[in-house]
Amino acid sequence: MSAFPRTAQFMGLNEPISREASHHDLKVEGRIPAEIEGDFFRAVPDPQHAPLHDNDVVLSADGMISRIRFRGGKVDHDVRYVRTARWLAEQQAGKSLFGRYRNPFTDDSSVEGVDRTVANTTPVWHAGRLYMTKEDGRAYEIDPETLDTRGSWDWHGALRSQTMTAHVRIDPETREMFFFGYEAGGICSRDVAYCIADAAGELVYEQWFETPYCAMIHDFAISEKYAIFPIFPTTADVERLKTGGPHWVHEQERESWLGVLPRHGDVSAMRWFKGPAGVSAYHILNAFDEGGKLHIDMCLSSTNAFGFIREDSGLDIPLPSITGGLTRWTVDMDSDGEEIESREIGPPGDLPRVRDKDQGRPYDLAWYPTMNMAGGMPLMGGPVGIAFNALVAIDPARGPVGMLTMPPLHAIHEPVHVPATMEGQKGWLIATIDRMDGPDTYSSEVWILDARDIAAPPVAKVKLPERLKPQVHGWWVPKAELERAKAA
Ligand SMILES: [Fe+2]
Repeated sequence: MSAFPRTAQFMGLNEPISREASHHDLKVEGRIPAEIEGDFFRAVPDPQHAPLHDNDVVLSADGMISRIRFRGGKVDHDVRYVRTARWLAEQQAGKSLFGRYRNPFTDDSSVEGVDRTVANTTPVWHAGRLYMTKEDGRAYEIDPETLDTRGSWDWHGALRSQTMTAHVRIDPETREMFFFGYEAGGICSRDVAYCIADAAGELVYEQWFETPYCAMIHDFAISEKYAIFPIFPTTADVERLKTGGPHWVHEQERESWLGVLPRHGDVSAMRWFKGPAGVSAYHILNAFDEGGKLHIDMCLSSTNAFGFIREDSGLDIPLPSITGGLTRWTVDMDSDGEEIESREIGPPGDLPRVRDKDQGRPYDLAWYPTMNMAGGMPLMGGPVGIAFNALVAIDPARGPVGMLTMPPLHAIHEPVHVPATMEGQKGWLIATIDRMDGPDTYSSEVWILDARDIAAPPVAKVKLPERLKPQVHGWWVPKAELERAKAA
């Protein structure tokens, strides 16, 4: 019998595996396209030990780095824990020492002051280095070859922020990495550090500003001219934490904001636009400039999508009554107004993926997991409680242009995009798939889809000998870049 709580956070696809593994020369059905040479890194939350508190959530679980490696049509998989300070302390103790999700006041006194991030959200590749990130702390650097943990990363001592987002943005032309950290000056602070690392990976810009209130800022965006910070009313309060309460409460009546700053500008030039009350978005698909207009496309919903946060907020809003969809917010940078124009441009869903080359630019194709209501009971999993059972392709000017619906009792996770080498081709999507084979029994595959025609049968399916724990986010790194980094 598992020592883990029998809650949705630890059942279904969320059932912990808690084991490192290597699987080599996996069985491939179909043929892996020759262009797919590289590593699909995945950030996987998987707790080493049963939690201190039964109300723990999947977002608290120790980070594992999973690598699905494609070489010459053959596929290997390796998964290793990130040796965070927290993981090491708990490994030595043989049990959990850290308490509730993002509440250090509930930790065992023996770990006071120990870095409590679990580095479980996004693998990030920039300037030849691989990181595992989570927004409540600094990144950990990982050796892309051995998957060993090199340690907490602070840009050679240059970074002042105590935190770094899991959602960085890399300009496809300048190769600068734009990122930020919120609660940068300490837990529940309103400080945001906005940062830029240049193409060589040096931290060249860090400026701090204050947000209207301390909000969860999970993602941000860049256009060619601006950095864009969305503020939704999921808020933190240190007094609540001190009494053992939750980090986040969603304030349904509170307004949202959009902060817009010239990409390399001084933070004193930040402009704030006022948005509707109560809304929430975890992920931004893309942003781009059109003359003086700035468009931000994001997966917006009428309230916070995470059931545990709504529950902690006293909000009785069941999942089916949440509305929303892919939404475009437009602001006029040539006017002095603070209005946001809003319109829906796609169906509900999340975990959007745009081609790297389209980052911050006008784009005509993107993909995101969505729900097929006619697809039967979705599988249990993820922080929201259910897993996506379809993938939509979208041209924001036209709406959906393709849909992959999964067979019953299947789930699809966030894909990565592998660009095509031939001009005019759309490349490939790689995603992990879970299938329910029986009560509490699941198996996993990796599907390779033609990005032009996602509804067509997968060009290849890779079979795993045991199930994979679903990732939060993934990152594709071409083999040529890994080899360049190794030689440097
Ligand atoms: Fe995310």
